[in-house]
Amino acid sequence: MTGISIAIDGPAGTGKSTVSKEVARRLKLAYFDTGATYRVATLWCMREGVDLAQESDVAALVETMNVSLVLDPRNPRVLLEDEDVSSLIRSDSVALTVSKVATNLEARAALGQWQRDVIAAELEGGYSDGRGVVSEGRDITTVIAPDADVRILMTADEEIRVARRAGEGADLATVREAVLGRDKKDSTVVQFHTAADGVHTLDTSELTIEEAVQAVLDLVAEVRGEG
Ligand code: DC
Repeated sequence: MTGISIAIDGPAGTGKSTVSKEVARRLKLAYFDTGATYRVATLWCMREGVDLAQESDVAALVETMNVSLVLDPRNPRVLLEDEDVSSLIRSDSVALTVSKVATNLEARAALGQWQRDVIAAELEGGYSDGRGVVSEGRDITTVIAPDADVRILMTADEEIRVARRAGEGADLATVREAVLGRDKKDSTVVQFHTAADGVHTLDTSELTIEEAVQAVLDLVAEVRGEG
């Protein structure tokens, strides 16, 4: 028997990462943050000094990257050449540059193949011992794992997403620019604002994290025939 594949897409500020991690933790599944693959590829390109405008050079460099992922939802980590870069890939310099890699179609093809391999490995063994994986990103429900057992698009009102990212005291206008600006760049190559056929939409505007987690668990129970 193979494990369960749960795919969750959506823009920033929908609660996608928090909910995906928590669902994986409760169901004892692996947690796969596909955004981290774009971020670590960006860090690698920055370190190697490749011109990010040279799409083929970037794609070729991505193929040479030596990365391992720890898919533990309690403590997901990314190792680049054995160095733990989990925090570094969240830095402003990577965040500001990552869209250049994410909009490079050749690099997407290479990273997409890696993502499919990671998911396939978890369905048979891997970190989860074959129980399965929660994969989150922008094109998981549509391109990377269109045959996942549960496919969800998480959405939330724009202003709510911005406010969640801003947190206490941050400058709303700057955060708005960062969140919506990046969404806009990313949406030039992937569509993650409306659900594809067969994908459940989960609007988290009015939901607490716990309610959103429960909604995902209910969908999982339904496909497992427990609903
Ligand atoms: O979710 P995140 O902020 O860590 O994503 C980092 C970048 O990668 C962001 O620009 C969106 C992009 N991305 C993507 O294009 N496709 C995915 N499946 C995941 C992330």
